[in-house]
Amino acid sequence: MSDSLNAPEVPQPGISGISGEDHPGHIPGVSVRHTRAKGEPRFPDGPRADPAGSHFERRIRSFQPRRSRVTAGQADALQRLWPKWGLDIDGQRVVDFAELFGNGNPVVLEIGFGMGEATAQMAAADPGTNILAVDVHTPGQGNLLNLAAQNGLSNIRVGNGDAIILLREMLTPDSLDGLRVYFPDPWPKKRHHKRRLIQPEFLSLAATRLKPGALVHCATDWEPYAEQMLEVLSAHPDFENTRADGGFAPRPEFRPLTRFEGQGLDKGHVVNDLLFRRVQP
Ligand SMILES: C[S@@+](CC[C@H](N)C(=O)[O-])C[C@H]1O[C@@H](n2cnc3c(N)ncnc32)[C@H](O)[C@@H]1O
Repeated sequence: MSDSLNAPEVPQPGISGISGEDHPGHIPGVSVRHTRAKGEPRFPDGPRADPAGSHFERRIRSFQPRRSRVTAGQADALQRLWPKWGLDIDGQRVVDFAELFGNGNPVVLEIGFGMGEATAQMAAADPGTNILAVDVHTPGQGNLLNLAAQNGLSNIRVGNGDAIILLREMLTPDSLDGLRVYFPDPWPKKRHHKRRLIQPEFLSLAATRLKPGALVHCATDWEPYAEQMLEVLSAHPDFENTRADGGFAPRPEFRPLTRFEGQGLDKGHVVNDLLFRRVQP
């Protein structure tokens, strides 16, 4: 994902950069940079850096690890709201959805929410559905927490880490009512195709966590990846296409345009949605 997803950058007071204006000995106009000591967490109350650590290290990852600047507003949200609405994907415990959301409503997993605008819109439009939104992108996590707080959305929880570890280690069988993967990293180079998320092994894992009848909704603006998605989903015995013609679906009303989609459309890309259902085992 390109860093153009990031909001404008500002120093983070008290976190990775401070202006120094409140500090004794501050020289007006001279900005003081706070460097963290080795081992000092970036957000003491916020998401942990690499929460699963080396425990599950040797995996091919579907995301690009990157260090991104966080705005002051995002940093503030991470500090304030993470203890309430954040979930570090450490692979060390099983998640109880009723406890996590405080109700027994259906839960949909969204993998790769980016900056979270579409996630927040979908949560607002459907307050009876809980969304567990997962990404590794720290500025996006802060942005989505802010959007949830500003819009009074209590049905979003933000996961930090690799969704595969979440699915494999932390979710129970038949626990999810849906899966959303909107504009996953396309990994266009052939040598990187193995990093694409939508592959038979991923679908087999996801199928074990999805309830029969659960909807799997994917969208991409990268046509070769769309073809691959259609091929592997159609061939997978645990899923069936909701389209009688066996093809792509038109974008359903309930999916808002995403930030990445907008960038793809600006470049003239064609967007394809795929709507599949988890079949009865
Ligand atoms: C291209 S962006 C799309 C973001 C957003 N859905 C949109 O359409 O604007 C893909 C996102 O998926 C995230 N991602 C990819 N693989 C992931 C994984 N295994 N676990 C969690 N997040 C992942 C990346 O960090 C990135 O933010």
